[in-house]
Amino acid sequence: MTPQQQSPRQQGPRYLTNTEPALRHGWHPVARSRDVTDEPTAVGLLGQAWVIARLDDRIAAFEDRCPHRLVPLSAGRIEGAELVCGYHGWRFGASGECTAVPSLGPGVPAPRKARATVPWAVAERYGLVWIAPREPFAELIDLPEHDGPEFDDIWLEVASTRAPAGLLADNFLDTAHFPFVHAATIGTEAGLVVPPYTVEADGDGFRVVMEQEVANPEDPGVAAGIRPLVQRRISTYVYRPPFMLRLRTEYPDAGITNTIFFCLQPESAGSTRIYTRLLRDDLGGDAARMAESAAFEQAILDEDLALQNRFALPGLPLRPEEEVSMRADAAGVALRRVLAAFVRRAEAPTRTPRSSPAGDVPSIAPA
Ligand code: FES
Ligand SMILES: [Fe+2]
Repeated sequence: MTPQQQSPRQQGPRYLTNTEPALRHGWHPVARSRDVTDEPTAVGLLGQAWVIARLDDRIAAFEDRCPHRLVPLSAGRIEGAELVCGYHGWRFGASGECTAVPSLGPGVPAPRKARATVPWAVAERYGLVWIAPREPFAELIDLPEHDGPEFDDIWLEVASTRAPAGLLADNFLDTAHFPFVHAATIGTEAGLVVPPYTVEADGDGFRVVMEQEVANPEDPGVAAGIRPLVQRRISTYVYRPPFMLRLRTEYPDAGITNTIFFCLQPESAGSTRIYTRLLRDDLGGDAARMAESAAFEQAILDEDLALQNRFALPGLPLRPEEEVSMRADAAGVALRRVLAAFVRRAEAPTRTPRSSPAGDVPSIAPA
């Protein structure tokens, strides 16, 4: 059956927006751990308001509305292992159970329906707090460099943009734009032609390995005249749906390895938050070089966002006929296929096997 013969429902949505209901079946970052204090923290996800709180040092998340009069629970306070609503003092434990209704008097149990809504799971990993509103279709991405003592750990400020998360994930996987968008940072003439590369199914997502010639101005060997500016670079991208990515970059000439951890929070229809963490083994803990590295990565991200913010699309196009894809777009095509399968699975949960997102990943893109 051709796409033209399929009903709109069979084809799935045209665009993956930040409020697509299927995305509830994913793990999403909602805050940096360091930004969650002893006060309730309001966060947005998929257009819905949540509140996260450390209850006796255990991270918990609730829908940000009290079941009583729907006031935001983020206006309340934390007391030990409970979140206390700021309006009438109802108290909630980490599982959402109401442990006390002060107006009923001491010792009177709360009615069972007086529950706060909690997500399917909440987790704290790799310096981020994550929420999976419904049972997730894909595992949380891993970050092998997280525990490596040789890696310096650098966070960029959390960025906020109006660009949809799907487009930002696509942009992260795209390398053909370097000479154009990043002419002032990492783009070179040498990177114009994207060599063939493979996209392999990996876990619930995929992995891309590519070799390129790029400018490496951060290598001190370049300034010292020991190595050329344009160097071989091996890039390994790992993607997990819906919006978890990491890129391990190796410069064999300079002996440098660094990883960019890039995860997106589809906050609302018009807002995405971007968490970027760098793990580098070439800075030797030098604070000035770490700051320089953060500024350089920030400049690259700013270049990307300047263009991404100009998109007028509501989300990532999911139907192949919407766009014209080339060999260099293999990773982006795989991204669209995984996400389209993710959405289809949410629409037909009993008919689609768990392995389908990875199984739909092509080995190579269209011509
Ligand atoms: S609105 Fe929360 S206790 Fe009344
Ligand atoms: Fe870019």
